[in-house]
Amino acid sequence: MSPSNEDQETVRIHIMGKEYEVPKGLTMMDAIEHSGYRLIRGVGCRGGFCGACATLYRLEGDYKLYADLACQKTVEDGMYLMQLPFTPAGRKTYDIEEIGRDGNPLLENYPEVARCVSCNTCTKACPQDLEVMDFINEAIRGNIENVASMSFDCIQCGICAARCPAEIPHHHVAQMARRVYGKHNLPKSDHVAARVREIEGGEFDESLQEITSLSREVLEERYESREIE
Ligand code: FES
Repeated sequence: MSPSNEDQETVRIHIMGKEYEVPKGLTMMDAIEHSGYRLIRGVGCRGGFCGACATLYRLEGDYKLYADLACQKTVEDGMYLMQLPFTPAGRKTYDIEEIGRDGNPLLENYPEVARCVSCNTCTKACPQDLEVMDFINEAIRGNIENVASMSFDCIQCGICAARCPAEIPHHHVAQMARRVYGKHNLPKSDHVAARVREIEGGEFDESLQEITSLSREVLEERYESREIE
């Protein structure tokens, strides 16, 4: 038999400084919404994949600042939450077509990686448990393949950059490494090239026009009744 609401165990949390009592076991994201907030920013996939929900928190009596994904981390009693829906970290603008095989484009575009003080704060903060400091050191050495493979599961939440005392935008450095690696090292995908030709040839224009003319209700109905493998 499920417990009544009155029997439900609760925890006390603070959101933007205001105290709320929420059911135990909720994720930080569910607890924020349970407390009456409507999330417009700082929410995306709700499944730990998009990196939109970076949230900072402290625990009562603990001076440390922690960070995690709101859609994955469960609330604990005495948590103080502050969402970080956007991490202002400098992302360089570059033309991937102009990046050759020589030199170290990571260091050239992101010279701040050389400021790494090896404190490992980035690795400790990463909700994906990536070896962030190690791939930044690979970036300094210009080992693009290692940076690309070690950062493969990065979801661009930016928590590493938010916590870095050397102000390195690790997630952007790693994203560049994966792009450069994809351009120079991975075999070309014939079926992707074929699909791009189809798109450019206008093969999907009609369907796209039809879809964009539909109402939200019809789109939702179609989405709900779609075939899922
Ligand atoms: S909402 Fe996408 S990772 Fe949390």
